[in-house]
Amino acid sequence: MAKRTIVTMPGDGIGKLVLNEAIRVLDAAGFDADYVHGDIGWEFWCKEGDPFPARTQKLLEKYKIGLFGAITSKPKDKAEAELAPELKDKGFSYYSPIVSMRQKYDLDICMRPCKTFKGNPLNFIRRGFGGVIEEPLVDVMIFRQNTEGLYGGVEWTNPPDLVYNGLMTHKKFQENFAWCPRPDLAVSTRIFTRKYTTRIVKAAFEYAHSHGYKTVTVCEKPNVIRETSGMMLKIAQEMSKNEYPDINVQNTNIDAQMMWLTKNPETYHVIVAGNMFGDICSDAFAGLIGGLGFACSANIGPEIAVFEPTHGSAPKYAGFNPSIVNPIAMILSAVMMLEHIGEMEIAARISKAVADVIEEGKVKTYDMMKLSGNPDVFSKGAVNTVQMTDAVIAKLR
Ligand code: NAI
Ligand code: MG
Repeated sequence: MAKRTIVTMPGDGIGKLVLNEAIRVLDAAGFDADYVHGDIGWEFWCKEGDPFPARTQKLLEKYKIGLFGAITSKPKDKAEAELAPELKDKGFSYYSPIVSMRQKYDLDICMRPCKTFKGNPLNFIRRGFGGVIEEPLVDVMIFRQNTEGLYGGVEWTNPPDLVYNGLMTHKKFQENFAWCPRPDLAVSTRIFTRKYTTRIVKAAFEYAHSHGYKTVTVCEKPNVIRETSGMMLKIAQEMSKNEYPDINVQNTNIDAQMMWLTKNPETYHVIVAGNMFGDICSDAFAGLIGGLGFACSANIGPEIAVFEPTHGSAPKYAGFNPSIVNPIAMILSAVMMLEHIGEMEIAARISKAVADVIEEGKVKTYDMMKLSGNPDVFSKGAVNTVQMTDAVIAKLR
């Protein structure tokens, strides 16, 4: 396969550490690539007033594939306070660069797999009949719409006249919210478009089809959020009927899904949801398979795709030397990248190496030992970030 160029965007905090570790694994596994560095994150907000500089955007536009660590985002007042003095009051406003990236490049298909690794001490267990302890095998792919919905950014406090007057044309608004003084009114919209809702639902069906699953679960709340959730469910039902007659649609409400999650997680395999419910659902499932140290993701658009762990920059651990955090989520995100570009053999070898290390159970980062994140975790038997990576590399065949 032709040599690829990958844009690496380490970002802030532990993003920098774990991305480095993933590249070590890719190199050791024989993935033949060039890496170009892209600046991103808080540092560039503070210094330049732009956490996602144009030069990084150019790299992504050119090379199309990105590996992203994690960034730090802070509230509005902190963002203003930390901006370089010469940039203050020049009209810069902070916007999360990963959210900007998803919207700018239409990275609308977010895939978040949650799969049990055998032997992971963090695996979810439950009590079955007769008091036996069961460890259900979780194997779910969550398809989260990544650019619209409640995270679309269309929101106001004290909405302008046109918006307010528009809202006042709605009977429910008149009945229930007209009493509220406008400055005390905050409105966040939940916009779904047919085009992008169809794309995420289609991605879920295609995945189910190619992996032999017979059900796609739409995890929304169409009985209450009738327009947006209702649109997604209807699109899924029509797609099942017209394009995938072998695949059924199951409709679960997000709240009930959170309850069923621990009751019977093994019955779910392909879930599709809007932006926020997909975010919630994927974090919840990730909790069953080991949490943030294991949760990887892909953001896929028509041209560009970016792969990242779902954890953030964990600033409280960023200064630890040696680092205590688990690099597996980042390594598995790199595996998703390999699968996306068709490097199946290398992807499978890395996945197997990670699975072998976990199953063997000799090498564990602090999270796998259920320790709190303190520098003393090593004296309790935890390995550091680099040692975990080394263990994965040692298992590569
Ligand atoms: P976080 O994910 O950075 O950390 C939460 C906790 O999860 C940590 O304190 C640690 O206990 C655990 N954790 C995270 N990654 C781990 C790893 N690899 N191994 C072991 N344990 C791990 O979320 P938090 O603290 O809410 O946010 C910190 C910063 O990260 C914020 O500025 C936030 O805005 C940003 N963030 C960025 C994301 C991104 O870049 N996509 C996603 C989530 C948060
Ligand atoms: Mg999240």
